[in-house]
Amino acid sequence: MAIYVGIDVGTQGTRALAISEQGEVIGVGNGSHELHTPHPGWTEQNPEEWWRATCAAMQELSSKIDSSAIRGIGMTGQMHGSVFLDKSVTVIRPALLWNDQRTDKETNWMDQVARQELLDIAFNPAITGFQAPKIVWLRNNEPKHYERIRSVLLPKDYIRLKLTGEMATDVADASGTLLLDVSGRQWSPVLLEKFGIDPTWMPPVYEGPHLTGKVLPDVARVLGIPKDIPVAAGGGDNSAAAIGTGIIESGVISSSIGTSGVVFAHTENPIPDPFGRLHTMCHSVPNAYHYMGVILSAGMSLQWLRNLLNESSGESGVGKNHSYEGLTESAAKAPVGSEGLIFLPYLTGERSPHLDPAIRAGFVGLNVRHGLRHISRAVMEGVTFAMRDSLELMKHLGLPLDRIVATGGGARSHLWRQMQADVYGLPVFQSKSEEGPAYGAALLGGVVAGDFKSITESVGACVDHVDPVYPESAQCRSYEEYYQVYRDLYSGLRDPMHTLTKMVLEEEH
Ligand code: XUL
Repeated sequence: MAIYVGIDVGTQGTRALAISEQGEVIGVGNGSHELHTPHPGWTEQNPEEWWRATCAAMQELSSKIDSSAIRGIGMTGQMHGSVFLDKSVTVIRPALLWNDQRTDKETNWMDQVARQELLDIAFNPAITGFQAPKIVWLRNNEPKHYERIRSVLLPKDYIRLKLTGEMATDVADASGTLLLDVSGRQWSPVLLEKFGIDPTWMPPVYEGPHLTGKVLPDVARVLGIPKDIPVAAGGGDNSAAAIGTGIIESGVISSSIGTSGVVFAHTENPIPDPFGRLHTMCHSVPNAYHYMGVILSAGMSLQWLRNLLNESSGESGVGKNHSYEGLTESAAKAPVGSEGLIFLPYLTGERSPHLDPAIRAGFVGLNVRHGLRHISRAVMEGVTFAMRDSLELMKHLGLPLDRIVATGGGARSHLWRQMQADVYGLPVFQSKSEEGPAYGAALLGGVVAGDFKSITESVGACVDHVDPVYPESAQCRSYEEYYQVYRDLYSGLRDPMHTLTKMVLEEEH
């Protein structure tokens, strides 16, 4: 039997997943790493912790499978992060992550010097979470660190470097730097020059299934796997997850509710949204592209609620330990629309469609009758409305929307899948394998091994869409009305929310 492995350097931890040629999951290993938030709006992780977590995950995996059968590895991970390396290839400072919001000033500057070039070449405007503003931030704020830079990598590419000794990246993840010429699928000399970034810092760029190196003998020994296993370029977590859920043709859209929420559509002819409200990027499928809407606090909103409740029951010494299952069961007891309660899920600002790091979350419409069931349901509904915003933009760009494939932790809840069907007015399927990015990366491992001729062949052999739930018309009608109110709330509350954010920042200083 041949085995393919996907390695996913996530935000919550690193996962190694092994699949067979038929796409069966035959083993997993996990390693954890912490998220550091040294200041409000900052998020950082130490790349060395990712490597320790990768070793732990691979060692656990190799102890569970016949690791001598591993034929290919694919890489994936959280996008946009910045690993700064010096001339001895040592990490200079902790990496700034995709949900870090500190680069407001830098994105404004980038917008001033190259707004049109960004939209024309990178197909995206300057966005706080992306990688290039982080490089500019280092120049402005930590010049001593900046002077030492010789290479800048994305998170999973640091792990590739440790595995193979090679610096490389892939077109999909590189699209999240703002330095790629997305239609040309290569670094853009124009953008690098505009932002004063040394082109020699950027690694070579490959298509997702292409070979980027082989596992080094010493590393193979530590991980308990054979040496010389080929490693595919892979993709950022969203495009890899899209391979794993079969989003490789138009009409089939994935909606992933993990920490962030992502709506993802494949396209052959990318026409960027003129305001950059949706990302337009290279896909991990060679020569294909994708649109993507990202909401920053999807599952994180429910996690915030769960943690808040557990903290307060811990403090009072009474009450129970709340779980996601408990919260969704409670949400099922509240009616559609949570009796007039709407949650705006902007706990860490918002990306799509508002591109607004200063917006804040809120419950609107609270009433004395509301209890935990309404609050839980409103959180789930608010996240779903936010995802619909991206689907609406896709509709306006003329994309066919035939069916949704729900993935991520949110897809495990039947209630949340039904809610998505009702809010989007589309059938919602699940992917046969519940695994996300690591599964798609493993499929790319199968292609780099030469066992599948193409991504289409590997997806055909391993991926299936199952268990559809269909929109229910009465619920669709109610949700349509609630969604219109939800949309109005952003514009109505933006100014006061920005004032609050400004006040908090001033208090900080
Ligand atoms: C995508 C994005 C997130 C991260 C999370 O643009 O920022 O989905 O990749 O892992």
